[in-house]
Amino acid sequence: MKKKLLGGLLVIALAASLFVGCSPQSKDTSVPSGTGESGAGTGGTGTQESASKAETDETGGKPAAAEKGLVGVSMPTKDLQRWNQDGDNMQKQLTEAGYKVDLQYASNDIATQVSQIENMIANGCKLLVIASIDGDSLGIVLMQAKDANIPVIAYDRLIMNSDAVTYYATFDNYMVGTKQGEYIRDALDLDNAAGPFNIEIFTGDPGDNNAKFVYSGAMDVLSPYIDSGKLAVKSGQKNFEKVATANWSSESAQNRMDAIIASNYGNGTKLDAVLCSNDSTALGVTNALAASYTGPYPIITGQDCDIANVKNMIAGKQSMSIFKDTRDLAAQTVKMVDAVMQGGEAPVNDTKSYDNGTGIIPTYLCEPVFADINNYKELLIDSGYYKESDLQ
Ligand code: BGC
Repeated sequence: MKKKLLGGLLVIALAASLFVGCSPQSKDTSVPSGTGESGAGTGGTGTQESASKAETDETGGKPAAAEKGLVGVSMPTKDLQRWNQDGDNMQKQLTEAGYKVDLQYASNDIATQVSQIENMIANGCKLLVIASIDGDSLGIVLMQAKDANIPVIAYDRLIMNSDAVTYYATFDNYMVGTKQGEYIRDALDLDNAAGPFNIEIFTGDPGDNNAKFVYSGAMDVLSPYIDSGKLAVKSGQKNFEKVATANWSSESAQNRMDAIIASNYGNGTKLDAVLCSNDSTALGVTNALAASYTGPYPIITGQDCDIANVKNMIAGKQSMSIFKDTRDLAAQTVKMVDAVMQGGEAPVNDTKSYDNGTGIIPTYLCEPVFADINNYKELLIDSGYYKESDLQ
């Protein structure tokens, strides 16, 4: 795993990035002029994804951005559609609220993310909003943020084992899993049908705290049926460690599904459902099935409503996805930013679920909903999230 291998280089990277961050020639941390990122779906390239900034908005009677200060927004990668949307939404809404924004994407590379955060601190960011690549790898850099009195808001993914984290804003990850499990339960009518049914399981990155929450939400619904024999996992792979997918990678999911098909479903044995924790893993599973499975597509779950997956839903290859309106998460996070910057308390609705190892982090949980062929138009098009043409 790339990120695990790089873990050992962190100390060197930290030292190097400190130097870079203080350098006036620091290219990656300078806040270039120009408007920000392009729209959703923009693919990322290179080792350090582009930085951008919203210029001071002095139009429309809004407060000058400089008055409210610079906010650093650290996103994990441009490779997945959702983070591009998150970055765009955060930049737009923070700018509208009167902040300057230093938005960085880290190419799913921990050392790059650490370096970008170092630079944000060195460049005078007053607050950091961070969607971590690996929740356990930011402790040292965030000690610097704490020493500099820079509050940190964990965005979507909880940052673990750091007492620098002030607040957490996310979707209810356990509920994401519950809804996926319930979808499979209802689609197979597990309470009434005779079965048994065959299911396989794919979850996310073990370093992403969300993956554990999503997995346990789904398994709390499905485990009783597995235990009673109504659901069979022919591969035998069902524990979190066995079904985790490094970096939530489509390719890794596809490779594992290829192997599972070859060993268990190559002889006409029917696969009834695949629990996939998100859309990138669902994409890999769907690709493997298209290549070497001869039966009809099983029930396949997902999360994010990425365009490629909604297209698969329309084509009958994926059954559902969880819709998490990233505009709402950004709006909630901007409320937190505003409250913290004014020295007040941010609105939260959960003060018990998310312990990051240093204590409970006060959290705002947005509510996820499921989308399928029957309601996607209303959820995704009528709400303006996508245009109909995006999905053709
Ligand atoms: C997010 C999901 C996303 C996954 C992969 C998780 O932390 O909550 O929405 O699909 O990361 O990027």
